[in-house]
This record gives sequence, structure tokens and C-alpha cells, in this order.
Amino acid sequence: MADIETHEYDVLVIGAGGAGLRAAVEASALGARTGLVCKSLLGKAHTVMAEGGIAAAMGNVYSEDNWQVHFRDTMRGGKMLNNWRMAQIHAQEAPDRVKELEEWGALFDRTPDGRILQRDFGGHRYARLAHVGDRTGLEMIRTLQQHAVHRGIEVHQECTVNRLLKDGDRISGALGYWRESGRMVLFRAKAVVIATGGLGKVYSITSNSWEGTGDGHSLAMQAGADMIDMEFVQFHPTGMVWPPSVRGLLVTEGVRGDGGTLKNTSGERFMFNYIPPMFAAETADTEAEADRWYDDKVNARRTPDLLPRDEVARAINSEVKAGRGTAHGGVFLDIASRRSADYIKRRLPSMYHQFMQLAGVDITKEPMEIGPTAHYAMGGVRVDAETAASTVPGLYAAGEVAGGMHGSNRLGGNSLSDLVVFGRRAGESAAKYALGLTGQPSVDQGAIAERSASILKPFEGGQENPYTLHRELQECMHVNVGIIRTDSEMRQALVKIAELKDRLSRVQVEGHIQYNTGWHLALDMEHMLCVSEAITMAAIERKESRGGHTRDDFPSTSGEFSQVNVVVRLRGSAVSVAQEPLPVMPDELKKLFEE
Ligand code: FUM
Repeated sequence: MADIETHEYDVLVIGAGGAGLRAAVEASALGARTGLVCKSLLGKAHTVMAEGGIAAAMGNVYSEDNWQVHFRDTMRGGKMLNNWRMAQIHAQEAPDRVKELEEWGALFDRTPDGRILQRDFGGHRYARLAHVGDRTGLEMIRTLQQHAVHRGIEVHQECTVNRLLKDGDRISGALGYWRESGRMVLFRAKAVVIATGGLGKVYSITSNSWEGTGDGHSLAMQAGADMIDMEFVQFHPTGMVWPPSVRGLLVTEGVRGDGGTLKNTSGERFMFNYIPPMFAAETADTEAEADRWYDDKVNARRTPDLLPRDEVARAINSEVKAGRGTAHGGVFLDIASRRSADYIKRRLPSMYHQFMQLAGVDITKEPMEIGPTAHYAMGGVRVDAETAASTVPGLYAAGEVAGGMHGSNRLGGNSLSDLVVFGRRAGESAAKYALGLTGQPSVDQGAIAERSASILKPFEGGQENPYTLHRELQECMHVNVGIIRTDSEMRQALVKIAELKDRLSRVQVEGHIQYNTGWHLALDMEHMLCVSEAITMAAIERKESRGGHTRDDFPSTSGEFSQVNVVVRLRGSAVSVAQEPLPVMPDELKKLFEE
């Protein structure tokens, strides 16, 4: 192991999306030697797929908006399962983080009087999403990346971390490999922030890019961290369904925020049939009333097309199952009937080009064909709300890989704000922790040698193909642990996951270690199987329906589960689940829900 390339930091940040970049900026600003490692090229993180905007109660469009309303919307969207303190911090700090992005160079769309413009999204009482057309995530990454590079943070691109390393109980670094050369690399670090994003690639229809293989979730579990809310997976209601090569690609919620309506093949605006009691008071129940909201939002009840995502995805699923879907298994999203071509091209330029170039559909004239797509994991590493610290000393998590903030269902736009609010806190806490340690924690050379050998094992011979294993896992998760779940199907999924784990031990890859994508997938499969098992076991444990977890066999929410997190732990090769109480919300915040 003497010749292994080694880098030494106070803080190592894994993942260069919004949370990772923001964490790295903060850690470096506090004087910590900071390294940033990312699986892809810098600037290509999945954050760019959060298109429609960043949620923050700035009150630029509706002066009535404030953090209390944003907090209340977030908790109701999460069906009250959120960590209340994370939701409070998020609502309170998001406006400052947006202003900070603007100071660092982000060019948001403007109101006529020059303030940052805010648009409507599902579940938000007021138009609250600061945006840059429908390319908000891209602008945010561009801004943060420029800021990070100018701070002199060392960036290691196209490098995949395969294991976290520990010195006793505490974190001491990470072992990875360069995707291009296939050579191993060791990062010694006093603290590690994981900001690796999501796990959508365990499903066959997903908005996630190739990177979303749950690496950070799995790395944290293997390092002994507690995971919460793993059963909650968000299916974004609107992904492309046709042509097959782009199935799942995101169609921003901004389309509905800006006037798009959902219709079945009979032309019916079916969302009026799916308004849940919890949102009935504020949701229009006739087309005339919903149309009034589009034209004159003040005091009007919102259109049901903009109910929270879990409600809309389930409704689309039901329409398709009832035979009112399109030939490709979707429904229609129509903005052409309400908005002019100029308006659509100005507000939704990416959507216009995406449909024109990929599907040959002109959305200024025709409806889009859309359906649910696996988009976001609400579950992740259990963290302390103030510090983003996990239950493992020296390990921090921020963004999608952290659990708690969004409860059982995330509101659109709350992801970008979560990234910068908790990315900053994770970077700050990791830096303070690392700067407080005297020496560099030690790394176990034996463990590194052992791990390096198992990373290379797929070259040794076997008969299983990593692409086949991946396809079978995606199909299994989609069918058995997808939008609608039931005990017997989830148990079948566990059997299949066990079978795939066994077959993965005999996986075979061809060729050389240089840029070998089959090998990379074989290594990612270990993470995907780990998180699939965690999702399935947590989903079996939660015997109710809530947010991004709907069970045919337990169709209602249950009081018994209304105050518990399902906590997943990995010890050795054994996964356990336990129900543990949620933190209790203080009375002054509870009052917000009485009004
Ligand atoms: O629909 C969207 O633009 C996605 C945003 C989000 O997931 O927050």
C-alpha cells in the first residue's frame, strides 16, 4: 500500500452538488484544509435537475409570506413527520441563503420593480420559488462552483469513493478510485461531509442521472450511521414517458406553477377528484374557481394540479390504472391552452427545447405526455438539526443524503434551499470539529489493503453481468417497492435483493481497469443493493400510508405511526429496523397548525 496516492485534509466533502459545494465553501472559509471529491465532472451534479426554483419566504411577490408560513407548508407537505427543528431552521435561513447566492453572482429573474421574482409550486401557500427560468439548479451550481474554485478548494473530479475509513469510532478518511485510470486513492481527513445526493437509480423510471446510486446512503450505513425515513421515496408526478430513451426525465413542476393543467385521455381535469381532506379548505374544487386562481391569485383557492407531489403522483397512477391514461402509460399536461407561445418560451425555455428536441412535441401548441418518475429520497442519514452531525463522530451529512428535513414528502423547491441551508451548517460544524482535533486520525492499512482487493475482485472471474443485475434490481424495486406497496410484494423484493447480493459476489467484468463503466456499475451495485434493502425493510415496518409511502394493505395514515421514525441500522451484514419517537415540537410552533 506504500504507493497509494494519498491526500490529507481537515475536511473532506464527498459530492459537488449544491450541498457539497456550499459545505466546502464554509469549511474553507473557516480555515479548514478542505478537499472536494465528485463522481462526475464539476458542474454536472444532479442539483441542475431541480429546475423550477429555490423556495424561500422572501415575500417579494406576496408580502404576507414569512418563515412561519413556509415552515407550516413544509410540515404539512411532509405529513408532520419532518424533524420540526430542521424545518424551522430551513424556513428561517433560506431567504439569507438566496440573497447570498445573488451576492455571489446568481442572476435570478426579477419582478417589475427589480426584486427577485418568485413562482408558484405545489404545497406552497404563496408564490415563493426564486428562479432563473427553468434552469435554477444550473445557475446555483454555476455560482457555487465559481465561488469554491476561487477559494482555492482542491477538487478531485471523476473520483468515486467506495468506503469511509474509521479510527476506532471516529471517521478518519475515505478510500476511492479514479474513474479514468482505475487507480486507488486515499483521502485522510479529520471530518467527512457526505453530500452525495440520491438513490433514484435503484428504480427503472427515474429523473436521476447515472450518479444517483445511493453511494452516500450506503457509505454512511456501512460506517455505522443511523438512517431514518428510508421508506419514503418521492415520485415526481411529471416525468417524460415518451420516447422510451428519455422516460423519467424531469418535466418541471414550474409548468403547473405557471398555468399547466393535468388531463386524462377524456380531456377531464381529474385532479378535482383527488383532493384530500387535509388540503380541502385551500384547494379549489371547481374548474372555474381554479381558473380564477391562475388569473387572480389573491384570496383564491389554489388549483388541485398543485397539490403536494405525493397526492398528484398517486392520482396520475390511479388514472392510468383505471384505463384513462395514454398508450404510453401517462396522462397529459397542457399549458398551451392557457399561455401564449411567447410566455411559455420565456418562462420555460428548457421544457420547450426538451420536448421539441427529444419528443418532437411543440409544447406551445400540444400537450405533453407525462407520468410519475422516481425523483427524490426523503430518507437518509439521521443528523443533528443544528450541526448536521451524524451519529458517527466526524461524519456529517447534508442535502438529499440526510434524512428528517422533509418528513414523508418533500415540497418542490425545498430541495435547493435545503442544500444551501444545511450545506453551510455541515461545512461549519465539520470545520470546527476538525480544527479542534490535534492529530490526523490514523487509517488502518490492513483494512485499506483488504478493501482494495475486493474493489478489484470483479476482474477475477465469475459469470454474472453487472448490467443484468442492475436491470433486475430496478425492475424489482419499481414493481414491488414503487408508488403503491403491499407486504407480500415487498417480501418478494427482499428475497430478490438477497439473490442479487449473492449473484453480485460472482460478478464478472471484462477489459481493463481504465474507464471501465461495467466495473464501476458492479461497484455501485453494492450500494444500490444496500439502500434497496433499507428502503424495503423500512417500508415493511411502516404499516400505514403517508407521503411517499402508500400501502394497499394499510391505505390510511395511522396514529400509531404519526410520531415515529423508522430507524435502519447496518451492523456487520445484518440490517435492523426500529421505531423511535420523533423530536417533540414546542407548543409555540404547534399553535401555527391550529390557525
Ligand atoms: O420540478 C422541479 O423543477 C423540481 C424541483 C425540485 O425537485 O425541487
